Amino acid sequence: MTPRPVRIGIVGGGLMGRELAVVCGRWPQLIDHPAAPRVVAVADPNPVARDWFRSIPTVETFADDWRELIERDDIDVLYLAVPHNLHEDLYVAVAEAGIDFLGEKPFGIDLAAAGHIVEAVDASSAFVRVSSEMPFFPGAQRAISYAASGALGEILDVRSQFAHSSDIDRGKGINWKRRAETCGEIGVMGDLGMHVAHVPLRLGYQPETVYAMLDNVVLERPGPDGVLVPCDTWDNALLACRVPSGSTATDRRFSMLWETRRIAPGQMNSWSFEALGMDGGVRFSTRTPTTLQRFTRRDGEQVWEEVQPGNISVWPMVSGGIFEFGFADALMQMWASYLAEREGELGERFGTATPAEALASHRVFAAALRSDLSGRAETL
Ligand SMILES: NC(=O)c1ccc[n+]([C@@H]2O[C@H](COP(=O)([O-])OP(=O)(O)OC[C@H]3O[C@@H](n4cnc5c(N)ncnc54)[C@H](O)[C@@H]3O)[C@@H](O)[C@H]2O)c1
Repeated sequence: MTPRPVRIGIVGGGLMGRELAVVCGRWPQLIDHPAAPRVVAVADPNPVARDWFRSIPTVETFADDWRELIERDDIDVLYLAVPHNLHEDLYVAVAEAGIDFLGEKPFGIDLAAAGHIVEAVDASSAFVRVSSEMPFFPGAQRAISYAASGALGEILDVRSQFAHSSDIDRGKGINWKRRAETCGEIGVMGDLGMHVAHVPLRLGYQPETVYAMLDNVVLERPGPDGVLVPCDTWDNALLACRVPSGSTATDRRFSMLWETRRIAPGQMNSWSFEALGMDGGVRFSTRTPTTLQRFTRRDGEQVWEEVQPGNISVWPMVSGGIFEFGFADALMQMWASYLAEREGELGERFGTATPAEALASHRVFAAALRSDLSGRAETL
């Protein structure tokens, strides 16, 4: 099969925009993929951000305004990776222009913005998905398949967590992710929430109620001139959700924790998923990426066994099957999934998060804000 060339424009040439350029640069790592992506354009008002892309030989266009990329007819896919306060206008405009895109989470700064974006996407012919790469770790894929297989029996308890400690240093300067105006009132949930929502929602674990414990630990951070300015976003969020009966094959209601933390002492960048049932259980963390644990009951014993999934993710790679997998590989697999699905070639493989899943996650985060105010569990 000859892969179809895909010309990609990046809007927002920051941390994540650069990651995509690198992923495309090593695309030959994938075997028999139907698409051949190349980053041809970047739009960013910051000239320093744009200049980084001058080292990427395929990039021809360096725009200071994203509208320039929308007006062109030689860009197949846009990757939208800008601060959250810009999501709504940008995503709606791209959807209305009918251009396919992968939009960064949280897909709108709040529930209302996400709703508008999803309306525009639904009314458009564009193929749109939402960024969420952690489930593409091989151990996560195995855990998802195991949970989906029914091997857990009646489900008792699910935990989905993303924890890092980027904000543990009180002297770290303020930036857009630490201000409600630009990151969103949902704070850390906008930053990490889609990561914890994606797998549970994909498995059909749709919360009905949520009781939230939100914590803003660091209230001020140094501004560019060193003077302290308000840091008014939630640093940590622990959401205790109730999943109603009828939402999974087990037809039993169960509890589910969604935990997002920017200040989790001892954690560098750990995403984990655990699901326990009467017959089986499974847990995986990117902290120990080469193994996952499975629980079974055998010969009257309760047994946790360790499985090494190898280097086998959604799309086959030239790298050896015993080699270790990491964050950059997960990003590449997510893009492989998005571009294969866009070509109609994903088959039964795991798909990138959908706009509907992003909207569902926002409903949970909005209820979490209400719960923190009321001190009670809130119905979605
Ligand atoms: N999937 C992940 O693992 C992951 C990780 C980090 C961030 N993100 C998401 O990616 C998005 C961007 O985050 P980041 O960490 O790359 O931020 P960043 O601050 O590193 O980069 C954002 C870039 O957007 C640019 N920008 C600002 N206004 C713009 C405009 N009007 N038009 C075009 N560009 C503009 C900025 O100049 C900057 O270069 C956010 O939605 C964030 O939640 C996702």
